[in-house]
Amino acid sequence: MDPVYLDYNATTPIDPMVSEAMLPFITQHFGNPSSGHAYGVKTHLAVENARSQISSMIGCNSPEIVFTSGGTEANNYAIQGIAGAYKKKGSHIITSSIEHPAITEVCKYMETKGCTTTYVPVDQYGRVDPNDVEKAITDDTILITIMHANNEVGTIQPIQEIAHIAHKHSIFIHSDCAQSVGKIPVDVNDLGVDLLSIAGHKLYAPKGVGALYVRNGVKLEKLMHGANHENGLRAGTENVILIVALGEACRLIENHLPEYRKTMQRMRNLLETELTQGNIDSRVNGHPTLRLPNTLSIGFNDVQADELLLNLTSIASSAGAACHTDNIEISSVLEAMQVPLEYAAGTIRLSVGRYTTKQEISHAVKEITTWVEHKQSMQIKGA
Ligand SMILES: Cc1ncc(COP(=O)(O)O)c(C=O)c1O
Repeated sequence: MDPVYLDYNATTPIDPMVSEAMLPFITQHFGNPSSGHAYGVKTHLAVENARSQISSMIGCNSPEIVFTSGGTEANNYAIQGIAGAYKKKGSHIITSSIEHPAITEVCKYMETKGCTTTYVPVDQYGRVDPNDVEKAITDDTILITIMHANNEVGTIQPIQEIAHIAHKHSIFIHSDCAQSVGKIPVDVNDLGVDLLSIAGHKLYAPKGVGALYVRNGVKLEKLMHGANHENGLRAGTENVILIVALGEACRLIENHLPEYRKTMQRMRNLLETELTQGNIDSRVNGHPTLRLPNTLSIGFNDVQADELLLNLTSIASSAGAACHTDNIEISSVLEAMQVPLEYAAGTIRLSVGRYTTKQEISHAVKEITTWVEHKQSMQIKGA
């Protein structure tokens, strides 16, 4: 039997409807979308259909979507693109202290190019205070980039309020929505963002595809140089197969989000209730309510997260800490949230998805509870 998959924030399987939509573009329609003949027209139309499926899901216009190779490229393009195009205006970037490396590493890279970055703190729930963002603004600030929802703890950020502040100061606002799209409603006008990143493999499309929303009128310095693909915004022949897949995955989300969300929330809540109601000493990380419906970051006292995952081979999930012989490496997110060390060291991230069943939850609860109870009872006995 395969391990129970509780790592949907790491990646998702491909939805069968998505595979079905891709198939004709693997087996039949191979034309270059830039070709003027019938073969090219077929794939060009498919790419444009996907673009309109994505734009419809997030409430923007089709030309505002640029296809990328994933969330990482979308984030790189947003940050490097704004910094390059608006360098005369300023070179200061504001971000949060709990971003994914696909943001923080780009900021660090931009620092080598003369930019400066302010990392605003988060509270114990992993939430950014919009007042802190406003306080960080200087005359030199050109971009605020804050993730919509955190990949480790699931906390949802007040993007709308931050966007309002950004625009009051004529600053661009980008949000990494890799984790939120497909789990909660994401609409560019509700959020008020100028740029927004999407990652295909977090929403039941394949790996290696994503999209960047760029509000009409916002300029970006090119990241990829070459021919005039994607309206001159991203050179390189479009990956038709993956783009069609991303479009279909977004169509499914637009049509079924409430039911997907309900299933995830039911399974996550079941997992959370069952793991926290017994005798186990645990702590749930992340905001109690402003949290993704599928994410449970939970820390167990007297447990080492990587040891737990190594032993529970019938469950696939991720650790929030890695213990080495002489030190414990806590994830930067838990550190920024100041999660007490005894819980941070034993934190695992369990993330459910569209296909998670009650049986899978029961199995996971039984396995985790048995191991944790054993470890905690040994500690009480002073073993
Ligand atoms: C919040 C966040 N941003 C960006 C990414 C990177 O996306 P991709 O793997 O498509 O490059 C991830 C994936 O782990 C993520 O969780």
